[in-house]
Amino acid sequence: MSTTEGFKVINVEELTESQASREIIILKEQIRKHDISYHSDDAPIISDYEYDKLRIRITAIESRFPNLKGEDDPSLYVGATADIGFSKIVHEKSMLSLGNIFSREDLNSFIEGIRRFLVELRDNPDLLVEIVAEPKIDGLSISLKYENGTLVTGATRGNGIEGENVTRNVMVIDQVPKKLTGDFPELLEVRGEIYMTKNDFIELNHRQSETNEKVFANPRNAAAGSLRQLDWRVTSKRPLRMFAYAVPVFSKPVADSQWGLLERLKEWGFAVNPLSQVCESVGKLMSYYENISFQRSGLEYDIDGIVYKVNRLDWQERLGFLSRAPRWAVAHKFPGEQVRTKVVDIFVQVGRTGTLTPVASLEPVNVGGVLVSKATLHNEEEVERKDIRIGDTVDIQRAGDVIPQVLRVIKEQRVEQSTPFIMPEKCPVCDSLTIKTSGEAARRCTGGLICSAQALEGIKHFVSRQAFNIEGLGEKNIILFREQGFIRSAADIFDLSTHKKEIISLEGWGELSIDKLITEISNRRVIALDRFIYALGIKQVGQAVASLLAKNYQNYQNWSQSMINAADKSSTNYSDLLDINGVGSSIAEDLIYFFCQPQNLEFLNKLVPKIQIQEHIGAQDQSSRIFDKTIVFTGSMSSLTRGEAKARAEALGGKVVGTVSNKTDYLVIGSDPGSKLAKAKELGIGVLTEAEWLDLIDN
Ligand code: IVH
Repeated sequence: MSTTEGFKVINVEELTESQASREIIILKEQIRKHDISYHSDDAPIISDYEYDKLRIRITAIESRFPNLKGEDDPSLYVGATADIGFSKIVHEKSMLSLGNIFSREDLNSFIEGIRRFLVELRDNPDLLVEIVAEPKIDGLSISLKYENGTLVTGATRGNGIEGENVTRNVMVIDQVPKKLTGDFPELLEVRGEIYMTKNDFIELNHRQSETNEKVFANPRNAAAGSLRQLDWRVTSKRPLRMFAYAVPVFSKPVADSQWGLLERLKEWGFAVNPLSQVCESVGKLMSYYENISFQRSGLEYDIDGIVYKVNRLDWQERLGFLSRAPRWAVAHKFPGEQVRTKVVDIFVQVGRTGTLTPVASLEPVNVGGVLVSKATLHNEEEVERKDIRIGDTVDIQRAGDVIPQVLRVIKEQRVEQSTPFIMPEKCPVCDSLTIKTSGEAARRCTGGLICSAQALEGIKHFVSRQAFNIEGLGEKNIILFREQGFIRSAADIFDLSTHKKEIISLEGWGELSIDKLITEISNRRVIALDRFIYALGIKQVGQAVASLLAKNYQNYQNWSQSMINAADKSSTNYSDLLDINGVGSSIAEDLIYFFCQPQNLEFLNKLVPKIQIQEHIGAQDQSSRIFDKTIVFTGSMSSLTRGEAKARAEALGGKVVGTVSNKTDYLVIGSDPGSKLAKAKELGIGVLTEAEWLDLIDN
């Protein structure tokens, strides 16, 4: 049975491999053609039934000849079966997040930071910085690629580096233009937010509950759940919308300001938020913020703050990015909704690095569409300061994705027999002693990896999205495999296949599911250095620090050896570590401590041979003349600020440090250079004037 045009229909079981291969090519071509007529031209040639038959046929042929399954059009498979999942798309430019601010003071510092960074603003206090203020839509971000004005791919944010290929799904969203109008560059990437209106969300939930299907907690979840459907036909029935707000990739410039860019997006056929506005002072921005907060509940869609963006795109470019967020934009968040409830219990959680965190179990309450039953109490000092007790009535607050917090206790409603909360002296999980170092608010379990909570949290962190990103190895499975003794440390994850037979016999597991997990794990053996460093879960080494370390040490061997050597504080390895801007002595201590622990070295020795840690390749141009050079700036320069000079040097692969030593390649002097110049002369280091420096980096 087949509807393949011009094909003699042969039963799938009887096809030879070469017949199958030819038919797959033709089927793919037909499906693609029908997709275009259906989605882009709005003029389907065949019925849905006929179309489905084509897809069923190709799936059947490919499951008989799995080796014929090509990689050439991954989106073709989206929606085929739930097992396949979404393929991945690597973003041409990372999809970063935004820093958050909460007050007028924060906003002032954001603007001042910009004024300090750009020399023309530093030197002309009267020059205004135009800022575009846009509502921050509470949906999920999307990246759309266009070639010659035709939509070619759609991807979710994912972990920021790679997202899910949801091309098939975005094709069915009305507000996503399939063909652009007006004058557009050949290549284009547009980013924006997919969302659902509050009314559509209510109606959808109504329909869902009538048909006994999943109801969503809020419009955001409904939008995400609807977009990330393996079957795009489900997506097509969901009322999704989109606002466009950025053009990160283009083959020829499209505007010179954010505002101009929004205008172009409209010309091309995108919906752009009508409430956006250009403001040129903190006062105007604050009135905009107040005004939108006031309108918020009456808007058709949920927003969770205001995004401020520097209007001039050349300034955006020069301001660049600070580890994970731009210097040229920030999110001013609305305060979270507050709700009153009761503390039913207080328990203590043990984190990856042994930190004991008291957590309140709450009488479940709905806060902004999400059912909240837990709130963090941070640490024992915080519990004592707020005097939070079991049985208390409390006000809690939840803002965005932040963990709910207890704001205050309603003392008048306190039950008489309540007693203050006392933090346990021993770890509630492994019974090891806990310690509280002076100067630190947190109490820690001293059990290390003996503590099963620390071990579990460590493994969860290791496989998490930003680390090894092993999907399918969730908490439940980690606990199961630990209980069975298959995983003692994260290094054992890569040997899971040796337990395949035993795992198949476990409840809920089968050949298919274990094979899928093993493949997934095997696909993650190759890892970027920054992700690897982050995955180790070293105290204070989050994504930003991990990425600084990767950038500075380039490869694993160099990094690990330097960390071991840095234990000697008179070594150059130690001073080099401190020289990294963003690594202070406290982070250095934690790194050194990690590498001093024999069990950690043993762990690394076991893990590293099983994986492939990629050498760090920055986005930098290795041909630049300052690539890999160590540079010191001194004195003040007239054509750019110290901040911008440093950022540009780093973008070109240079390493900027604060002190002159025999490892310095260049000392760049502005006016009034001071003692560094004398030191450089003494050591025979190359000294450059500002003009010479600019010449060096511009050529
Ligand atoms: S600009 C590098 N503009 O907020 C800056 N983001 O917290 C890119 N969002 O992932 C973001 N409305 O999903 C921008 N008008 C807006 C936005 C917006 C919502 C979301 C977006 C982003 C997240 C960052």
